[in-house]
Amino acid sequence: MKDITMIIGANGQLGTEISAALRELTGADTVICTDLAAPTAALTEKGPYLQLDVTNANILAEAVSKYKVTHIYHLAALLSASGEKNPDLAWKVNMEGTLNVLNLARENKQIKQIYFPSSIAVFGPNTPIENTPQFSANDPTTMYGITKYTGELLCAYYNAKFGVDVRSLRYPGIISWKTPPGGGTTDYAVDTYHHAVNNEPYTCFLKKDTFLPMMYMPDAIKATFQLMNAPEDTLSTRLAYNLTAISFSPEEQAASIKKYMPDFQISYEPDFRQAIADSWPNSIDDSLARADWGWKPDFDLDAMSRDMLDNLSKLKHHENNLEAVNS
Ligand SMILES: NC(=O)c1ccc[n+]([C@@H]2O[C@H](COP(=O)([O-])OP(=O)(O)OC[C@H]3O[C@@H](n4cnc5c(N)ncnc54)[C@H](O)[C@@H]3O)[C@@H](O)[C@H]2O)c1
Repeated sequence: MKDITMIIGANGQLGTEISAALRELTGADTVICTDLAAPTAALTEKGPYLQLDVTNANILAEAVSKYKVTHIYHLAALLSASGEKNPDLAWKVNMEGTLNVLNLARENKQIKQIYFPSSIAVFGPNTPIENTPQFSANDPTTMYGITKYTGELLCAYYNAKFGVDVRSLRYPGIISWKTPPGGGTTDYAVDTYHHAVNNEPYTCFLKKDTFLPMMYMPDAIKATFQLMNAPEDTLSTRLAYNLTAISFSPEEQAASIKKYMPDFQISYEPDFRQAIADSWPNSIDDSLARADWGWKPDFDLDAMSRDMLDNLSKLKHHENNLEAVNS
């Protein structure tokens, strides 16, 4: 039987790029993209797309059996800042959605593998802030972090109790140019690049010396596929793996952008997201991921800045040309 992958939350920042990368690798018709939102042209042009709600277990089960799905990437969630604005909805989507996916895999033996993304939001004020260890105090202070850590525990439980092959990574803040970020505390680190290519000053919602762990999208995709392809016996934990690439502050990122765009201006007006950032680690120890399945990132801060600015400038140029043709 051919492997068929369902991506849930395919319209999001990570979903868009994971879907495209998988379709490139395994063929467009082997990847079923799904999301609560209406499809984007990029996703429907290239393969099957279903609009569905992950909290509806029956609809999800129907889709899985109709398409004979063997692998699920369950990416749908409300992120940290959106979750603090609507904690009830964050609990519903993040917890009911995850349980629905895990129960499907438990009952339906055609499902071979599940991917569940976790986050550095699983850590809290009693976690060591520098080089946060893989196994540490997990006392998240946001609804998002609470649902992610509970999700991790459920994944480990479903693996031990029901043999579900579910794998997970604690992503740091993900930086990318193709799709905007979806309401997280690390979104500033994407907004800066957009403002820089538009020659606009940027007002950052975090203090200039707030360090957070981050990663460029190509590294996030590489890590995800590396984990999903790792032999089962190399995985020493079924909680999510700590994962990181770079740690920087808004001030350091601005200095990196200025190397390529010297006129870039930044100022700082911290809002409610500062408290969330303050409860998270400054940097992460991902040595277990490195030891178990060979994790190693490719991009440092300057390499990422160069690539982001280059791609966003090309995109802007392309959009300007389209506008000129259409006017
Ligand atoms: N982007 C990051 O920096 C980051 C960091 C750590 C972890 N993660 C995790 O990675 C996953 C993907 O994150 P993202 O940045 O792409 O998020 P995003 O907000 O950009 O995308 C989430 C997608 O889920 C969809 N969705 C929401 N509710 C749904 C529902 N009920 N049913 C079906 N779809 C629904 C949304 O429409 C959206 O397209 C999330 O689980 C997130 O917690 C992301």
